[in-house]
Amino acid sequence: MLLKTTTKNLTNLKFLLTLALETSCDETGVAFVQSQSPTQHKIWVNLVSSQVKIHKKYGGVVPSLAARQHVKNLPVLLEECFKKMKKSKPGFKLEEISQIAYTQRPGLEIALLIGAHTARALGYIWGKPLAPVNHIKAHIWSVLLRKHNSQKIKFPAVCLVVSGGHTQLWLLQSFKKMKILGQTKDDAAGEAFDKVGRLLGLSYPGGPAIEKKAKKGNPQVFAFPRPMIDSGDYNFSFSGLKTAVLYTIRKLRTKNKKDIADLAASFQQAVIDVLVSKTLKAAQDFKARTVMLTGGVAANQSLRKTFQDKLKKGPLHLTCLLPPTAFSTDNAAMVGIAANIQKLA
Ligand code: KG4
Ligand code: ZN
Repeated sequence: MLLKTTTKNLTNLKFLLTLALETSCDETGVAFVQSQSPTQHKIWVNLVSSQVKIHKKYGGVVPSLAARQHVKNLPVLLEECFKKMKKSKPGFKLEEISQIAYTQRPGLEIALLIGAHTARALGYIWGKPLAPVNHIKAHIWSVLLRKHNSQKIKFPAVCLVVSGGHTQLWLLQSFKKMKILGQTKDDAAGEAFDKVGRLLGLSYPGGPAIEKKAKKGNPQVFAFPRPMIDSGDYNFSFSGLKTAVLYTIRKLRTKNKKDIADLAASFQQAVIDVLVSKTLKAAQDFKARTVMLTGGVAANQSLRKTFQDKLKKGPLHLTCLLPPTAFSTDNAAMVGIAANIQKLA
C-alpha cells in the first residue's frame, strides 16, 4: 500500500501551529512554533539535544552515529515537547497542529532521512501535511528568534550565513524573493574553524575551542592571509588560510600555550576580516537596509561584535539582526519559523 500524507489547504487558517524537527547534523531538535504572519511568531517549545560529546572522541561528526542518535533522541524529545506544550498551553490538542516541518537539505544525508521519515510517519498517522524546509533558509530566519527583530527587518536585506557546511551571502528582496550572491569555493568558515582546531590540538568542535583560546591571544602576532578579500565578488575561500596556519605550525616546530592562543586569535581575526568586509561590500552594492548574521559561526562573540561595529556603527548605520547566540547553531525553532514563512509570505 502506498502511504500518502495529506496536502490540506492551510490558507484559511488564522495562524499556523507547526511541529518542527531538525536532524541535519549532530543536534536533534524538536519545537512548536506558531505564526500569524512572516513577522509574528511565538515559540511555544524549543528543545535541542546536542551530540557533541559523542562525536568529540572521533574529532568530528560520524554520520552513522549521528543518525543512530537522532533515532534514539527524537521520540524522547517529542514526548518532552508535548509535555511542555500541554503545560504552556492548557487544553492543547493534537488537532491544533497545522503541519509537520522537517529539515529536508542540505545536511548529512542519513541524518536528514531520520527527520524526514519521522515527519512522514507522524504526518500519515495524524493526517497532517508536511513542510520540508531548506536548512540554509532556516538559518536565515533564525534572526526572528530574537524578540523585536521581526519589526526591525527592512528589505532589501543582506544575510551572511556561516555554518559548518556553508558560507553564503544572500540578498533578500522580501520574505519570498531571495537569492545567493556568493559562496565559498572550498571550505566553509565553520569547517575551517574545525580543521584549524584539529591542527592546534583542540577538541571538536573547533569553533568554540578556538574562540576560547583566541581570548588569551594576540591577533596581530601571525600575519595570515585574508583570502579573496579584494576579489570584487561575494565569494569566499578558506582552504588557503587553513594551509597557512598548518605551515606556520610546522615552522614553529613546538608550540607553547601562548603560541596556540596567538595562532587561534590570528586565524580567527583573518576569518572575521574577510566575512565582514564581503558583507559590507554586498550591503553597499545592493543598498541594503538590514544586514543579518546567521549560522553556527555567528555564535562567535568577536565576529558578532566586529559585524555590528562595522555595519551598524559604521558610516552605513545599517540595522543588524542576529539570532540569540544559543540559536545560531542548529535548532528546530528556526525550522518551524522558516516553514511558516514559506506558507504565509
Ligand atoms: O550551523 P551549525 O550549527 O551546523 C551546520 O549547519 O553546519 O554550525 C556548526 C559550525 C561548526 O563548524 C562549529 O565549529 C561552528 O559552527 N561554531 C563556531 C562557534 N560555535 C559554533 N565557530 C566559531 N565560533 C564559535 N563560537
Ligand atoms: Zn546549520
